[in-house]
This record gives sequence, structure tokens and C-alpha cells, in this order.
Amino acid sequence: YRKIGIIGAMVEEVELLHKHVEKTGAFVKAGIEYTEGLFQGRQVVFCKSGVGKVNAAVCTQLLIEAGVDCVLFTGVAGAVAPSLNIGDIVVSTSCLQHDMDVTPLGFARGQIPYQDTWDFQADPALVELAGSVSEQLFPGRTLKGKVLSGDQFVASRDTVRALYEELNGACTEMEGASLAQVCHMNGIPYVVIRAMSDKADGSAHVNFAEFTVQASINSHAIIEGMIKQL
Ligand code: ADE
Repeated sequence: YRKIGIIGAMVEEVELLHKHVEKTGAFVKAGIEYTEGLFQGRQVVFCKSGVGKVNAAVCTQLLIEAGVDCVLFTGVAGAVAPSLNIGDIVVSTSCLQHDMDVTPLGFARGQIPYQDTWDFQADPALVELAGSVSEQLFPGRTLKGKVLSGDQFVASRDTVRALYEELNGACTEMEGASLAQVCHMNGIPYVVIRAMSDKADGSAHVNFAEFTVQASINSHAIIEGMIKQL
């Protein structure tokens, strides 16, 4: 890759990039600040999208228009797969919008009507690399799986169980599937890296506040490990 795009949604998720990227330029579009620079000698553009699917979609499209040829996401998520603990890593094999619901018209849960793709596949080589870097840094704490995105902070045991049983999610967050859809529409490879800040249950808000900084550090470490090999 000649130019690598990196997105985080919140300040905790991008502040380590600000620290470690040697800046060469910057621009603002749609109120989003994009920083250009060198990360481990590689050309990158990174930005803070803001939270939610609309922010992530606009941010991803503008990043692609800035000339990146792949997109990485770094951040935190609520664990959905019961095997995951706080701090563990999910590498997206695909991303799906769990709040897309046109089931009354006979569409599957998560299906975008009249489209044949709604579970957007991540790039297999990026998944493989992210998985091996993560396994090296956090042995036995990496799960490759489906990332579920929606414009909601999930904080209920019943909801999180349904996300696992009905949609086979690994984790839930608020941007990945939107970024994935925009990458799919543009033919750009992507992968989402998420470290678990909580378990999307009744304690999620408390855990999120306590563990987001450490989880963001874990996710960033994987991006840093990947960059050298991209
Ligand atoms: N990001 C981190 N934890 C989350 C949760 N429980 N729901 C949605 N997004 C999250």
C-alpha cells in the first residue's frame, strides 16, 4: 500500500497516532481534521471520525478521496462473544449493521433492502496480518469474527445475547459496518481492529469509562505492529 488510512472514532482511539506519527500535513473537510504523515516510515492519513455510522461514513469517503488505498480502524467495542474478556481483541472478518431492520417487509435482520451485500467482508490479507500481530502481542486473546455496528451503545444482557445468538457477532460498536460499506462501494480493502472495553451488559457504562484508555492502547499496538508489514 502506498498510502494507509487510519480512523478512530474518539480522542482516546487516535491520541497515540498523534503521538507517534511524524506529521507532514493536515486538512479539514466536513469538520473532520485529517493528519498526514509518516508512521514507521509509511505514508499514512489518520483522523477522528466522531461517533456513529454517519460520521464514520463521511469520514471514510473523504479519506478515500484523499488517496488512501486501504483503511484500518482502531478502537474499542463491547464484547458480544461470551469467550471474550475486557482488553481482548476482535479482528473483523466482516461487519454488519445490526440496527438495519426491514424485517416487516421480509428482509433478513441486518439486510440492506434490494442489495445483495450487507455483511461486508474485510480484506483477507489484512485480517490475516492483524490476527497474527494481535496473537503475538496478546496470545490467546484474539478472536476473528463479525463486528456488529449500530447507532446505539449496547448495555443490556438480553440485547447482547440476541446479538450473539441471532447475528453471530463477536463484538458491537458504532462505526465499523459503515466504514466497511463505504469501502465496499469504493472497492477499497479494510479491516477493523477493536479491543474490548466492556461486555455490552448492565455494567457496560461503568466498564467503558474504566477500560477505554487501556483498550485503545491495545488496539493501537496492533495497528503499529501491522504498519511495518503493509
Ligand atoms: N463501544 C464500546 N462499548 C460499546 C458498547 N457496549 N456498545 C456500543 N459501542 C461500544
